[in-house]
Amino acid sequence: MASQPLILDVGCGRNKHPGAIGIDIRPNTAADVVCNLDRPPYPFRDSAFDQVRAIHVIEHVEDVLAVMKELHRITRPGGAITLVTPHYTDFSSFCDPTHRWHLNSFSFRYFGEDHAGFGYYLDRRMLAETRVHVRLLAFWRWLGFEALVNRFPRFRRFWEYYLCYVVRGKAITFEFEVLK
Ligand SMILES: C[S@@+](CC[C@H](N)C(=O)[O-])C[C@H]1O[C@@H](n2cnc3c(N)ncnc32)[C@H](O)[C@@H]1O
Repeated sequence: MASQPLILDVGCGRNKHPGAIGIDIRPNTAADVVCNLDRPPYPFRDSAFDQVRAIHVIEHVEDVLAVMKELHRITRPGGAITLVTPHYTDFSSFCDPTHRWHLNSFSFRYFGEDHAGFGYYLDRRMLAETRVHVRLLAFWRWLGFEALVNRFPRFRRFWEYYLCYVVRGKAITFEFEVLK
């Protein structure tokens, strides 16, 4: 029988992914390990996990690149990292004073093929962005904008540049493959 993938739910809160190990800064959550993401290294060996999930967490941390480097360290080569974060045009992005970062669907392009021209921010290519999915507010989804934004990368860019203050985003899901 195939073994179950080992999953880490980072900043799990009380909503830990079924079967995952949870970490959170707050002890009164479903966390198995209490750990501050802003104080690396996290108490896990290199390449320990098959999958790492951080759902509505990355916008809370002090240093996004430092956290991404640490998530990369503890995920096995070929493993997956999933992030979900509010789009900066959503109400939720600015109504929580513990949010430090207000992101868009290109915010992780530093991890792309040529680091979006900013290769000197990272020592080497750590992650391949395998999927970006934008969720829009329900009205715009209903009108078909969400399908267009996700189907056509050029339209997503056009939407970010020209439309998103009206056709507002809700949340973005980023999926990465870990390269080592
Ligand atoms: C908006 S909640 C999301 C909880 C859960 N992932 C979910 O989707 O329901 C953000 C979580 O990140 C945790 N968190 C924030 N900053 C953190 C840090 N520096 N280290 C570890 N956890 C942190 C919070 O305690 C909280 O549980």
